[in-house]
Amino acid sequence: MNDSKCKESGIMINKNTTDWNEVWKQQMSLQNRSQHAVDCAAIWDKKENAELFLKMFQGKGSERIENTIKDLPLTPESRVLDIGAGPGTLAIPLAKKVSHVTAVEPSPGMGSVLQDQIAENEIDNIRYVHKRWEDIDIEADLDAPYDVVIASYSLGMPDIKEAVRKMEAASSKYVYTYWFAGETSWDINFRALWPSLHGIEYHPAPKCNVLYNVLYQMGIYPNITVIPFEHAHKFSSEEEANEHFKSYFNITEQRQEAILGDYLKDHLEEDDDSIILKGSNTRVKIWWKKGCDHNEQ
Ligand SMILES: C[S@@+](CC[C@H](N)C(=O)[O-])C[C@H]1O[C@@H](n2cnc3c(N)ncnc32)[C@H](O)[C@@H]1O
Repeated sequence: MNDSKCKESGIMINKNTTDWNEVWKQQMSLQNRSQHAVDCAAIWDKKENAELFLKMFQGKGSERIENTIKDLPLTPESRVLDIGAGPGTLAIPLAKKVSHVTAVEPSPGMGSVLQDQIAENEIDNIRYVHKRWEDIDIEADLDAPYDVVIASYSLGMPDIKEAVRKMEAASSKYVYTYWFAGETSWDINFRALWPSLHGIEYHPAPKCNVLYNVLYQMGIYPNITVIPFEHAHKFSSEEEANEHFKSYFNITEQRQEAILGDYLKDHLEEDDDSIILKGSNTRVKIWWKKGCDHNEQ
């Protein structure tokens, strides 16, 4: 114990700093346990889920993608690493602007939609690597270094410090991460339903406050932009919505289907010829330029 007492004020100063990577690990492990090991990547194993995710960011929803790409330091010569590329939401438009994109994506459903998108858009400068970031060997699996390394809403990684170390090692200039601040709409939905569906409390994934502190302890002092965000899951029918959310809510029994059905009935809204579930969350862009002194604490 390194507690010391400031004699004059009598204030206890705790010199033991919290290990924020341990906080991340614990919160991630609690979340995985509460989701019955439905991890961040596993949700996207079903191709239909991956297709719906892509649809959310096409047409009216494409603003997020346009804004994200507009803010990146890209040139036609840039080489980009997209970690957790999903169905290619960013990788496809990025590939049209830069010389090369390596897209790392572990989920079979997302990977399959990404490959469809590469073919549909006749893109020949994306390399798809079907792995989790934590299983990537930079030398063997990638074409590092990259000018820009991006991890966009894909930080479902058990050891974030190690993941960031690897992002830095793969980058020659910039690292851009995107994550969440505060409670998201799915946290609210899960929190409401978890006890009746699964008999346990729901624990959310660690948020950007933990990430910031991990970076700080690594000697990385990043830039942060807060991005309020509203989105809508779009379905052609209530049945389609029920079916879609079954895997999100890890539903395996009829009893649970009925609970979810009742909840969705109360929350789904009609919108033109579709049925939508609105959501909102606060997102953050956390980025830094490589090469500042990193004095790990
Ligand atoms: C919400 S999607 C985001 C997709 C895309 N980056 C975007 O911004 O639209 C999250 C993606 O991260 C991937 N992912 C989750 N955990 C990962 C990990 N440990 N390593 C690499 N990718 C991961 C998931 O499979 C999923 O495709």
